[in-house]
Amino acid sequence: MPVVDLSEHAEEFNADPYPTYAALRAAGPVHLVRTPTTGGDVWLIVGHEEARSALADPRLVKDWRPLAEVDYVELPVSSNMLETDPPQHTRLRGLVAREFTPRRVEALRPRVQEVTDALLDTMLAAPGRTADLVDSLAFPLPMTVISELVGVPDLDREAFRVLSNQAVAPLTDDGGEAVREIGGYLAALIDAKRSAGPADDLLSALIRARDEGGDRLSDDELIGMAFLLLVAGHETTVNLISNGVRALLTHPEQLAALRADFDGLIDGAVEEMLRGPVETATYRFTREPVRIGEVLVPAGAPVLIALASAGRDPGRHRDPDRFDIRRTPQSHLAFGHGIHFCLGAPLARMEGRIAIRTLLERAPDLQLADGKAELDWLPGMLIRGVRHLPVRW
Ligand code: HEM
Repeated sequence: MPVVDLSEHAEEFNADPYPTYAALRAAGPVHLVRTPTTGGDVWLIVGHEEARSALADPRLVKDWRPLAEVDYVELPVSSNMLETDPPQHTRLRGLVAREFTPRRVEALRPRVQEVTDALLDTMLAAPGRTADLVDSLAFPLPMTVISELVGVPDLDREAFRVLSNQAVAPLTDDGGEAVREIGGYLAALIDAKRSAGPADDLLSALIRARDEGGDRLSDDELIGMAFLLLVAGHETTVNLISNGVRALLTHPEQLAALRADFDGLIDGAVEEMLRGPVETATYRFTREPVRIGEVLVPAGAPVLIALASAGRDPGRHRDPDRFDIRRTPQSHLAFGHGIHFCLGAPLARMEGRIAIRTLLERAPDLQLADGKAELDWLPGMLIRGVRHLPVRW
């Protein structure tokens, strides 16, 4: 199959991948592409139906190590749910799933509201009535909530933010180094928690927890779990909030409708905003040759599932490029599907709804500070969002 070279127009693709996804979808649901940033070749799934079934296909595995043809360095952070398959995945997920049920997450509501209020107090007191929404709200809200939940309230969030950004950016030397540095930091933290004795946070509970067979989590599994929760718990939600607010501020009629009926429309508005912040699922690898659509993907090949493209598939969504907070039905693959379905979905939804509603209520005349300014898009195909979103009120 000919390779579609996405690196030829890397900058345009990064700023707006949707026209490319539309052209690819029109030609077929599965393509072999050269990625714009790493330059590697991957099988990219762009159609909704094919994406949905691939996400739940057990022949597409997460642990690439048994398939690797070259030597690799084993990193402790890799012992996490998103890089493992059953039975290890089942065991890891089983140990934390109860912490993320809608009921447990609902108990966090007052704290999420309190953190939001405090961040907005500071932001709205800014001289000049302008601020960067990413720095003032979209980043610190999910980062504070997930660090408190995991039990690392004193985490140096700015330092972690830099490392985490590097860790989810396309594979570079910086990325590998950042992942190692976070791993080392978390290993020290787990040691400190162990010697401090029982405490009431998630990481302390995981140190004590035993699975159904009576086994404890290994050190690497603890490091992997903390890494995944801290990174997945904020990188994604930051962009739900900042992309969501940007979409509203550039669609005044939708914003006015939401302002007129928060109770009736905020949940739907956040679902609509979810069609985007996570552009692709994480890498999967074919354990054997797998037919996807008409295409036979060979064994041992990397596969990327473009969730953002699936969210714009006209075969699934009417008028898919329109931003419509009243869209029905609102089915999307933004949180994935199958055994790796986002563990944090109830938390992400709650944070998004509270952040956006409270912001709009407290800043009734919120606007983009400079609607014409060039946006600085994050690199890579995993996360779609901007580094800064200047707003005024
Ligand atoms: C807007 C916010 C979020 C979006 C769009 C999102 C999206 C996703 C997606 C698409 C996956 C599946 C990836 C794949 O199959 O390759 C996933 C998995 C995951 N997410 Fe989220 N996520 C969000 C927020 C969160 C939050 C707040 C947490 C906090 C705990 C979280 C924790 C996880 C975990 C632990 C997994 C791995 C689950 C597993 O492998 O079984 N996510 N997320």
